[in-house]
Amino acid sequence: MRALAVLLLLAAPAQAEPVSGYDFLMPETQALQDDDFANPGLLWVDQGAALWAQEGCTGCHGDATGSMRGVGAHYPVWSDERDRIVTIDEQIDYCRTERLGLDPLPRGATDMTALDAYVMHQSRGLPVAVALDRPELTEAHARGEEYYYTPRGQLDLACADCHVTNEGMRLRGEVLSQGQANGFPIYRQLWQDIGSLDRMIRWCHESVRAAPPADDDPVWEDLELYLRARGNGLPVETPAVRR
Ligand code: HEC
Ligand code: HEC
Repeated sequence: MRALAVLLLLAAPAQAEPVSGYDFLMPETQALQDDDFANPGLLWVDQGAALWAQEGCTGCHGDATGSMRGVGAHYPVWSDERDRIVTIDEQIDYCRTERLGLDPLPRGATDMTALDAYVMHQSRGLPVAVALDRPELTEAHARGEEYYYTPRGQLDLACADCHVTNEGMRLRGEVLSQGQANGFPIYRQLWQDIGSLDRMIRWCHESVRAAPPADDDPVWEDLELYLRARGNGLPVETPAVRR
């Protein structure tokens, strides 16, 4: 049994050390991320802080700088009560709708991304630490990995073709990073805007002329779990600045 496990481990594709997208940036862009007065992403963090107070999160969670420290670094998680994987956005929206009676926010809505950025920002500098400690999570992780390695679109490319095989190579003026998720939501210079992980994944689908999964496809959660766990150990950088 043990020998077989070792063999399987050896046969698995070598998992490269995770490297943040930050390390692939020009020094000017890195400097922008590092400077709290210049980093444009912090505008949305501020907007998230305002929503935190206005929407009434304070009522149960108090000051987020204390109560939310370290929280985002562990997401997605498994929820027994809801019998499903819960991403950070889904948890935030769950509290908004179930506990505050607010209307749900659509995926990628600016208010959602701002709250996400605010919560994730409370973990800045802490290592990403997504647990894969139950079968529901390891199974979802395996489905996410399968999606990651499956070619799609008119260009017939898998996520891994760009972010694993061609890491460090140039593509239309961009340097391909490992496609890590530790900086999300990010401020992307190309968009002149904040972007959720969801938005980035859609953009990457477009880049190979593939349709992204339908909004209610559970593979979104599987893929997010896979992507975030892939960056375990990297520091949370929210809000990261990317090209
Ligand atoms: C009525 C109380 C209540 C309000 C108001 C509330 N929450 Fe929550 N929240 C909870 C409880 C209870 C949990 C524990 C997990 C669960 O049962 O969902 C939680 C969990 C969370 C978590 C995950 C914490 C963890 O350790 O995993 C986040 C993030 C969060 N809430 C964000 C928000 C945001 C953002 C708002 C405002 C839009 C908000 N909550 C409003 C009660 C509340
Ligand atoms: C044709 C090449 C290509 C493919 C295929 C591709 N991406 Fe990307 N991706 C990019 C480029 C270019 C960027 C921006 C530069 C960078 O960080 O690599 C990017 C960035 C990212 C980032 C942000 C990295 C950071 O540090 O902020 C994530 C996350 C990501 N991709 C995930 C995915 C996922 C998931 C898939 C598969 C569904 C995918 N990508 C498929 C080209 C690709």
